[in-house]
Amino acid sequence: MIKDMHQTQQFTSFEKIPVTIMNKAEEACKLVSAEIAALIRTRQQQNTVAVLGLATGSTPLKIYQELVRLHKEEGLSFKNVICFNLDEYYPLAPESLQSYRHFMQENLFKHIDINPENCHIPNGQVSLEEVKQHCEAYEERIKSVGGIDFQLLGIGRNGHIGFNEPGSHISSVTRLITLDKVTRFDAAAEFSGIANIPRKAITMGVNTILSAKRIVLLAWGERKADIIKLAVEGPVSDFVPASYLQTHHNSTIVLDEVAAANLTRKKTPWLTEDVVWTDQLIKKAVIHLALSCQKPILKLTNNDYNENGLSSLLVLHGNAHDINIKVFNALQHTITGWPGGKPHADDTYRPERAEPIRKRVIIFSPHPDDDIISMGGTFQRLADHGHDVHVAYQTSGNIAVADDEAFRFVEFVKDYNSQFNINAPDADKIYEQSSSFLKQKKNAEPDIAALRQVKGLIRKGEAKNTCRFVGILDENIHFLNLPFYETGTIEKKPIGEEDIQIIASLIQHIKPHQIYAAGDLADPHGTHKVCLDGIFAALDRIKHLDFMKDCWLWLYKGAWAEWDIDAIEMAVPMSPEQLLKKRYGIFKHQSQKDGVVFQGTDSREFWQRAEDRNKATAELYNNLGLAEYEAMEAFVRWHY
Ligand code: F6R
Repeated sequence: MIKDMHQTQQFTSFEKIPVTIMNKAEEACKLVSAEIAALIRTRQQQNTVAVLGLATGSTPLKIYQELVRLHKEEGLSFKNVICFNLDEYYPLAPESLQSYRHFMQENLFKHIDINPENCHIPNGQVSLEEVKQHCEAYEERIKSVGGIDFQLLGIGRNGHIGFNEPGSHISSVTRLITLDKVTRFDAAAEFSGIANIPRKAITMGVNTILSAKRIVLLAWGERKADIIKLAVEGPVSDFVPASYLQTHHNSTIVLDEVAAANLTRKKTPWLTEDVVWTDQLIKKAVIHLALSCQKPILKLTNNDYNENGLSSLLVLHGNAHDINIKVFNALQHTITGWPGGKPHADDTYRPERAEPIRKRVIIFSPHPDDDIISMGGTFQRLADHGHDVHVAYQTSGNIAVADDEAFRFVEFVKDYNSQFNINAPDADKIYEQSSSFLKQKKNAEPDIAALRQVKGLIRKGEAKNTCRFVGILDENIHFLNLPFYETGTIEKKPIGEEDIQIIASLIQHIKPHQIYAAGDLADPHGTHKVCLDGIFAALDRIKHLDFMKDCWLWLYKGAWAEWDIDAIEMAVPMSPEQLLKKRYGIFKHQSQKDGVVFQGTDSREFWQRAEDRNKATAELYNNLGLAEYEAMEAFVRWHY
């Protein structure tokens, strides 16, 4: 079980709660589900109940899938299970699509043999006068069945557990609370916009949670890495309610590698254990040292190394001067204005091969604008250098177009037809259907098929416009419309056979020397991750083919993050003019400008995010003592 597991894992003096780190969320979920299943089975043998505290949100989804599998394939019965959910939005009807009651029903309860009377979730519909009594009754009910045996938790980006937002007291119990701004932002996608999210919620209190006999908090992905560091290594504080778990005698935090990335043992492992000094780790340590001493690499001294926990590096690899030069050169070699390779140049220390001079390239773009947002400068450079550049838009991106924008186009077609006396009854029908659908469309309701297609067409047109702007031939633009995406809702299907085949056959057809893909490995449920899974699966299938020996895969990051500087293997600089041109390329995506459907917590427009990030990368290189560029795009090579 997890408890045994973490005992075999290294502890560090920095971590104040036992932490188990697994490679992937999937493996972690199997482990946690096995502990839950063992508890249920033990209680069955003892002829008694198992009381579970359950969470909702994206984090525990795979736990529920695994529990359902255990039920269906391994006969795990839930007849002796009583469960209590952490929270519910208020006010919100239980039948509403966004309610946690609906979530639990769809993702767990309806698939297992649990007695519905044993499924407790705060009621988001009780009247204000009744709330207090409802919360007290919830607490009483938990106590009456002997308390919670196993409490499952997620963590909000602000450190909340349940909906115990920052400021919650350690002795708080089930109550009505006001949701934090960050929480509401994070829920905006499910509610189709922040305005539709309830302002309050009923949540179990911190004390209710800490009274559980066993607590497991899960976190996956990059989004959670900062808050996990605070919860695990920071002080116990009401600013980070998850830090209260430090006071519990039997809690474990289970993470995937990416959510654990900011823990001291991962970020600066030389501070917590005897490390093997590989070239990569030396690079990471020296960059970290330079940034924390705020010095360029070539100015770091033996003293800096000694005072910052790096004396073992000096002992093994000579003096600061030699190590500095080695790391400086390694960084220098990542910079190139020739992402497709520099013709006739010695390429020993260049990120890309000089040969063949004219390369065939596929840029995979998960949505119709990721190519230009995330690697627009490189895209342009590859085209300018005469490579045979293809762009493959993996999904239609149709759910991210606003209703009024789509209707504008439907109306345009109708007006256009009438202006030019074109008789098009089907277009009129689509106009009528769309108009009446939109008038009564409910919050987050999937669109009718015709409207979805219109939205997809809008994005297709914008992508074509960008490609023309960059100078890509029409026949080199590929719209894959991968089926996994076409659910009409935010929730997507996992990658399927048909998706993989579409990707594989395009690669086989073009036989590229370079593939660029969005490498958002850290985004556990998002479209980017599924698109990448599709590419990995396709490559796995065709990697034995002859042309694949010459095909290199470069990963870029999506709109919101950048690779750690020590991981970057190719950095493509941009001049101020080139950066401006990239901005104009992004402007072609008009449906994604001036406030988008899924804005998230970042209120900047995509072009601003891209520029800020590309400028920050250039600044980092410059701070480390390398040349000063206006902006840079960064890539990591993936060896498949
Ligand atoms: C849900 C809950 C919340 C979530 C947290 C993380 O019942 O109580 O604390 O666990 O907001 O949400 P996700 O998993 O969607 O990132």
